[in-house]
Amino acid sequence: MKDLLQIRGLSPEQIESILSRAGEYFDVVTAGGKPFPKLKDRSVITLFYENSTRTRASFESAAKYLGAEVVNLSVSASSVQKGESLKDTALTLDAMCPDVIVMRHAQSGAPHRLAGWVKAHVVNGGDGLHAHPTQALLDMFTAQRHFGSLNGRTAAIIGDIEHSRVARSNIYAMTLLGMKVKLFGPSTLMPSDMSGMPCTVCSSMREALEGADIVMALRIQLERMKGGLFPSAGEYNKYFGLNKDVMKYANDGAIIMHPGPVNRGVELSHDVLDDPVCIKDIQVTGGLSVRMALLDMLIGGEL
Ligand code: NCD
Repeated sequence: MKDLLQIRGLSPEQIESILSRAGEYFDVVTAGGKPFPKLKDRSVITLFYENSTRTRASFESAAKYLGAEVVNLSVSASSVQKGESLKDTALTLDAMCPDVIVMRHAQSGAPHRLAGWVKAHVVNGGDGLHAHPTQALLDMFTAQRHFGSLNGRTAAIIGDIEHSRVARSNIYAMTLLGMKVKLFGPSTLMPSDMSGMPCTVCSSMREALEGADIVMALRIQLERMKGGLFPSAGEYNKYFGLNKDVMKYANDGAIIMHPGPVNRGVELSHDVLDDPVCIKDIQVTGGLSVRMALLDMLIGGEL
């Protein structure tokens, strides 16, 4: 495999092999160890056209934990601001012979274009509304560490589904691992046609949460909205926010996941956000481990 652009097209075996390698790294990292410099003399460029805290820092840390060199291109301070095209930027960076380019872009499909132009492996760090494959892999990794097998479990994804590449990638990853997926959110933030997707749309929070082991809250992506799609943060929290009361509908032992960044008090109330029921910070450590596994396996030709 040259590139990781989306979850669709991966086999359950490929996903499991990444998660299993990530498990080895997770154990070393959480025990305070710095893993073996397997990627010494290798290089990774991060090219983020959209803001990021977790994903970019996670890829950079993952590459550095493995001994690789990392160049973070800050698009706002680059020749993109002088009008350089995506293709010319791509060819320039590729001429520096990196092993991997990690790209985030507001336009769905941009990493696919990049992959067609460059010799480096391309990893999609999130493209528009389309896909965020490493987020879905880290979510599956973290959930699997929590529950053991995910086969037969149910996830409820709550919130701004329309604008969420995280939801789209997770729907595919979850179903590939044998899970059932239910969705709930404001009707204005639910894609009008979910018929091609392996999931069911629910009409109440209770319906969505009943039988759920994993409840995944999504951020309202105001930066992708043209306006007027939901009334107010307070009202959103009242009808679509997660708190201890609504979590009573979910299965005993259910967990809350969130890709971050969280709007505190909007999609998650403080009583769950600051409670062990919400495993968002374990997701971050899982993300580091998954990205280490992915860089290692992509560069090593193991995928
Ligand atoms: C997500 C993204 O950028 O798609 N964040 C992330 O990568 N952890 C979700 C979001 O921004 O809400």
